[in-house]
Amino acid sequence: MATADIQATETVPWWRGAAIYQVYPRSFADGNGDGIGDLAGIRQRLPYLAELGVDAVWMSPWYPSPMADAGYDIADFRDIDPVFGTLAEAELLIKEAHDLNIRIIVDVVPNHCSDAHPWFVEALAAGPGSPQRQRFWFRAGRGPTGDTPPTDLQSIFGGPAWTRVTEPDGSPGEWYLHLFAPQQPDFNWEHRAVWAEFDDILRFWFDRGVDGIRIDSAAVLIKEPLPRDEASYTDRDEVHQVYRAWRRISDSYPDERILIGEVWLPDPARFARYLRPDELHTAFNFAFLNCPWDAAEMRRCVDETIFAHAPVGAPPTWVLSNHDVTRHVTRYGRQNTSFSFETRVEGVPLDLALGERRARAAILLTLALPGAAYLYQGEELGLAEVEDIPLDRRTDPMFSRSGGSNPGRDGCRVPLPWSGTRQPFGFSPDDAETRSWLPQPAAWASRTVQAQTGDPGSMLELYRAALRIRRAESALGDGAIRWIDAGEGTLAFTRDPGFTCVVNLSSGAVALPEHMKILLASGSTANRLLPKDSAAWLRTR
Ligand code: NOJ
Ligand code: CA
Repeated sequence: MATADIQATETVPWWRGAAIYQVYPRSFADGNGDGIGDLAGIRQRLPYLAELGVDAVWMSPWYPSPMADAGYDIADFRDIDPVFGTLAEAELLIKEAHDLNIRIIVDVVPNHCSDAHPWFVEALAAGPGSPQRQRFWFRAGRGPTGDTPPTDLQSIFGGPAWTRVTEPDGSPGEWYLHLFAPQQPDFNWEHRAVWAEFDDILRFWFDRGVDGIRIDSAAVLIKEPLPRDEASYTDRDEVHQVYRAWRRISDSYPDERILIGEVWLPDPARFARYLRPDELHTAFNFAFLNCPWDAAEMRRCVDETIFAHAPVGAPPTWVLSNHDVTRHVTRYGRQNTSFSFETRVEGVPLDLALGERRARAAILLTLALPGAAYLYQGEELGLAEVEDIPLDRRTDPMFSRSGGSNPGRDGCRVPLPWSGTRQPFGFSPDDAETRSWLPQPAAWASRTVQAQTGDPGSMLELYRAALRIRRAESALGDGAIRWIDAGEGTLAFTRDPGFTCVVNLSSGAVALPEHMKILLASGSTANRLLPKDSAAWLRTR
C-alpha cells in the first residue's frame, strides 16, 4: 500500500487555502527600461515572490491590447502584448514560477474584447445584418434618423453604454453595446461561436501550464436582447451554463486547474451560486474589501461569508485591495473606512499612520481566516493610494469618462518601488532614460523592498513572517473558525489545532491570554497588552 497515495488523497487542494499575489504587469517591474513593467521584469523578480511566501500569482491581462482600459480591452486572447514581451517569455515565466513552487493564474475577459479585436473589425466592415455583427450587440438607434441610442443604458465607466458606428459606405449606422468603455464591445453570449472561442482560449492557457483562470466581470455576460437597465445583465441565470461548461474543461486536466470569478454581487446567497460544485472553484469576496474597520461589521461580514460558502462546499476568499479599488492603507486612515466605486474620492482628510497600523492588523486577520487570501502588489510594502497624479498623466477611462468627477484607478496602479532613493526606485533599470508610466511619490524612498528588507518593524517583514507562519501552521488556510468572546470591539477566534487570532478594534488595549505563546503581532505586545488597531497570532504553548 503506497503511503504516498494516502497522503495524496488526504491533501487539501492547493487553492482552498492559497495566498495568491496579484501582479499588475504594467507596474510590477520594468526589465527593458521603457518605463512600463514587463515579463522580463516579472521573471527577474520571481525569487522575490518565492521569498515573500505566496503560493500563486495572478497576472492581470498581458495580452495584445490598445490599452484603452489598461489591457482589459483585449485584441488577441492568445498572445502577449509587445510592450510586455512575447508568448515564448510567458511560457518561460510559467515554467520558472513552477520551478519556484509558484502557481500561475491568468486573467480572461469573456464579457468583451477590444475594438481592435479582429472579430470586431470584421463586424464593422461586414455591415448591418451580417453574421459577423451577431457576435456582438449591434442594434439600430431610436428616432427618425436613428441617432438616439437603442436604450438608455449607462456604461459602468460613465456615459451611454452604446456607441454609434460609421458604416462602410460612410453613413451613420448602427450602435453597439459596451458595458465598459466604447473601446470594449460586449460579446453576444447567445452566439455559439463565442462559446467555442472561449472554450478554446481556456484550453490554450491550460495547455501552456497555467493553474487557474481569473474571470473578469463574471456575472454580466448574459444580456437580454435589448438591455433596459442594470437588472437586465447582472447575474442572469443563464450565465451559470457558461461556468458549468468551463468547469468541465478545467476538470478535464489531470491536476487541479481552477476558475476564480470576479463576481460583484451584494447578495451572498446569489454569489454562492457561482461556487456550486460544478461551477467556479472560488470567487473574490468583495464584501470583506467593502467592509468598514469596525468589529461588529467585520464579524458580521466574516460570518455571512462563511455561512454563504458552507452549503456549496467552497472555501471563502479574503481580499483587501486590488487594481480597481483605493489602497487599503488609505481607506483605513480615513474617517469612512469602507469602499465604494460611487463615492471614490481623493483628498479626504487622512491619517496615514493610523491607516498603516490598521492595515498591519488587517493582514493578520485576513491571513488567519479560513480559505484563500488575495494580496495586491505593493500592499506588502504598505503603499498608500497616490492621490496627486497630475491630471494629464491619468490614463484610466473611469477618470476621463466621468469628466474627472471620479479620480479613477491610476492611484493604486503606480509602479512599485524596489530600491534606491530616487524615482524610479529600481522599477526600471538604473540606466533607463524613460520615466515610469505613472509618477511615484518621492516619499516612497522609505517604502522600497530594499529599505524594508531586514527591518523587523516594516510592513514587508510582517507579510513575510505572516506568510511563513501560515505555511507552517496546519491550522491556517482551509478549515473552520470558532469565535471566542474577547469583549466588545475585539475579534478573537481559534483555529484548530491550537491557533488563536486576536484583533483589537476597540478604543483601548486588550490583555492577551497568559497561557499562550505570541507567534506574531502587528504592533507592540509589551506587558502582553495588545494596543488598539492591532492584531496578534497566538498558539497554545
Ligand atoms: C474588472 C477589472 O478588474 C477592471 O480593471 C476592468 O476595468 C473591468 N473589469 C472591465 O474589464
Ligand atoms: Ca518595459
